[in-house]
Amino acid sequence: MWRLWRGFTPNTPADLCLGIESSCDETALALVVGGRLLGQVLASQADLHAIFGGVVPELASREHGRCLGPLLDDLLSQTRSTLQQVRAVAVARGPGLLGSLLVGVAFAKGLALGLAKPLIGVNHLHAHLLINGLDAPIPWPALGLVVSGGHTDLYLMQSPWELTRLGRALDDAAGETFDKVGAAVGLPYPAGPQMDKLARGAGRPLARLPRPYLHNENLDFSFSGLKTAAIQLARQGGLTQDGAENTRQMAAFCLALNESIAETLAAKVERALGLCPEVKGLCLGGGVAANQLLRRRLEELAHAKGIQFMAPSPALCADNAVMIAYAGSLLLRQGLGHDLGLEAVPRGRPVPDDLLLLAERSP
Ligand code: KG4
Ligand code: ZN
Repeated sequence: MWRLWRGFTPNTPADLCLGIESSCDETALALVVGGRLLGQVLASQADLHAIFGGVVPELASREHGRCLGPLLDDLLSQTRSTLQQVRAVAVARGPGLLGSLLVGVAFAKGLALGLAKPLIGVNHLHAHLLINGLDAPIPWPALGLVVSGGHTDLYLMQSPWELTRLGRALDDAAGETFDKVGAAVGLPYPAGPQMDKLARGAGRPLARLPRPYLHNENLDFSFSGLKTAAIQLARQGGLTQDGAENTRQMAAFCLALNESIAETLAAKVERALGLCPEVKGLCLGGGVAANQLLRRRLEELAHAKGIQFMAPSPALCADNAVMIAYAGSLLLRQGLGHDLGLEAVPRGRPVPDDLLLLAERSP
């Protein structure tokens, strides 16, 4: 449904867009102007949650509430900007931890209301893919693969506001698989980055782990069986004792898991490309997009198919507010956004397609 929201002043000259990210354990804000990054601030809670071996939702929400205000002050002084210059407030509205999202969404609503500027609720997963357009234009339509701690989703990307999900993780996401297997072999949370690093030092994989859930016709993923197989392999190899992380065997184990995840993702991407011959580019996004083996494997695939491969710089693969501000600026340019009824959407529930037409498109 398209309708006009009275809070918006049409024909605003610039698109200085503030982005707010609080969907999991990073509190972040960024400013994007004219589609370019002006500045960003980020407070990671990784150390706090590492003590518990995973994100504690209650603690995450409290930290977001504590950090957002001071971080906004930092961002404004770092970029020598004022709130009055902000043309729109974009916020990650889901999917994510509900309590964490609510803190960010309430903060964004307060700012939008106080400044009488448009509010734009951004789909966190779409933003992970759209950030690829920050440095070079995305060739539309594109295929998008989001691989993070909570999601493994394939999208057909027709435009910044039209992303159709083609497949998803039915159980553990790719990042979750790295983290859970890593925890079983004594690596600290989140284990993905360290497993990637260790795998790079390995000559050969310890074994050929299964490439799971490929004997079907669909574009969904299922990594829980691989997780069990990998943990069993680790037990057989005696890799569950402390201090094992420095051994060559551990590196070979990490390579075995990494290869299996990268090959499985690539196989479904290849299948999706076969079903969508109109696609001109392949966009990768999410924390696991920093994985070297996966990037290389997908780049080779895109090259072989004659399409463009895009992946964000490693810093922009993980959760950040640049992607929220940038995705918000794309929607703002199109005159799209939300009113103060914007709802936060927890993980597991589909993010509704409820963008409103706030005003005419910016020139
Ligand atoms: O997108 P993200 O920062 O947060 C979520 O929305 O989940 O992704 C975090 C996930 C974690 O599971 C982490 O282990 C994984 O991304 N990750 C990696 C790498 N860097 C982060 N997994 C494999 N290789 C990496 N280099
Ligand atoms: Zn994310």
